[in-house]
Amino acid sequence: MLMMLKENLLQDMDDWLLVETNEMEKVTSASPSFYKQFHVSKEEIEGKSIHTLIGRYSNINKNKVLFGMVYGHPCLIKHTAKKNSNLYHILLQEKDIDYTEVISFINSIETKRYKKKSINENRYSFHDIIGYSPAIQRVKDLASKIAIGNSTILLTGESGTGKELFAQAIHGLSARKDHPFIAVNCVAIPDELFESELFGYEAGAFSGAKKDGKPGKIELAQNGTLFLDEISELSYLSQGKLLRVLQEREVERLGGTSRKQVDIRIIAATNRDLKRLVEKGEFRQDLFYRLYVFDLQIPPLRIRKEDILPLTHKFIEFYNQKFDKEVDFIDSGLEEWLLSYEWPGNVRELKASIERGMNIVEGDTLTLDKLYFSTSSSVSNPTPVINRDTAFSSLDEAVKHAEISAIKQALDEADGDRVLAAQKLKIHVASLYRKVAKYQLKNK
Ligand SMILES: Nc1ncnc2c1ncn2[C@@H]1O[C@H](COP(=O)(O)OP(=O)(O)OP(=O)(O)O)[C@@H](O)[C@H]1O
Ligand SMILES: [Mg+2]
Repeated sequence: MLMMLKENLLQDMDDWLLVETNEMEKVTSASPSFYKQFHVSKEEIEGKSIHTLIGRYSNINKNKVLFGMVYGHPCLIKHTAKKNSNLYHILLQEKDIDYTEVISFINSIETKRYKKKSINENRYSFHDIIGYSPAIQRVKDLASKIAIGNSTILLTGESGTGKELFAQAIHGLSARKDHPFIAVNCVAIPDELFESELFGYEAGAFSGAKKDGKPGKIELAQNGTLFLDEISELSYLSQGKLLRVLQEREVERLGGTSRKQVDIRIIAATNRDLKRLVEKGEFRQDLFYRLYVFDLQIPPLRIRKEDILPLTHKFIEFYNQKFDKEVDFIDSGLEEWLLSYEWPGNVRELKASIERGMNIVEGDTLTLDKLYFSTSSSVSNPTPVINRDTAFSSLDEAVKHAEISAIKQALDEADGDRVLAAQKLKIHVASLYRKVAKYQLKNK
């Protein structure tokens, strides 16, 4: 039924050159005029990535009208993100192009650009979690399913994988969404302050206490969500105090005389293996099982490389607005490098790299050398992958050795400057990065 409706919708817009994709940017259908104009059939384009249709390095984003090529024809393309799909309106850029059409395109988009989010402005939703890889889709699916309930959730994953993002999105989808989301970083809470921070205190509870007393984080999160970040860092003693609140669902301020009912949902996060910590006696088993109701594991970026380019585009779009830049493309060298790097700092590292590049880029294309000047230290130790399946013949060995010594020499002469070294070697800087990683050559 839904499919039928969609088909009709596309047919009604007979005159539009329109392509629809699913959330993974794969073509699901196009308008009849599109097939006619470009002499293609549904079967030929269905399931293909939109990038194969409209140019590989185009940064498609919803804030811009793009100039691009579709089957060799220069076109204007407007992207509209729907809930589970994307629409691409295409205008052939012909002599008789309708400029009023173009202007209304641009106007509708420009006004959007300066609109601010009004509700929960600083909070992320599932829509903001970029990633089409099966690995992240699975986590998103599961997270959105359990978001609705009230169960405790444990988010695990390496640093920078998006644990806090997920915590906020889960809260935003739950029935508690109009109540507070209170984040507590457990690293920052020494034992002596645990109770006053979490439970609060009454006036005059201890010397140095605020005159009027202070509510604790648990009280502040009432009816909402308490996000306990880096839970593994709580001391054994504090873990016990937390456990008691979770069991009794009541809290009493320091120096107080009455207990208050607590209605909060707990989402905890850690980048450590809590099970191991339990085995080593560093984390309380009873607390672990309280938290381990749903264990959501967020995969590292290196095992979901499909997400790198969509994330890159998202961050470019973000910094375009923030720094008032007009970057629409990334060059092929940068793309290659982004895809070959191992990202030990995960999405956070990717975001920071793009931010640095966007600070200094000029024009409409982000290139590797813009990121280079600041990534040299992080690039020096990516996890190198040497293909052990390849048995080197003696010629290969010789070539490898020649290559290594040429690279070392060029890096020496360039004083560690990889852009310069690549120029000396007459290879692209991206391929120098790959070779340095492949041969595990240390940065100078
Ligand atoms: N899938 C994603 N889509 C968009 N942005 C993301 C995604 N994952 C992470 N980010 C961004 O990357 C940064 C790091 O994410 P976040 O703070 O949630 O990571 P974390 O897992 O909590 O890291 P840590 O363990 O170091 O605290 C944030 O700026 C976040 O917005
Ligand atoms: Mg975090």
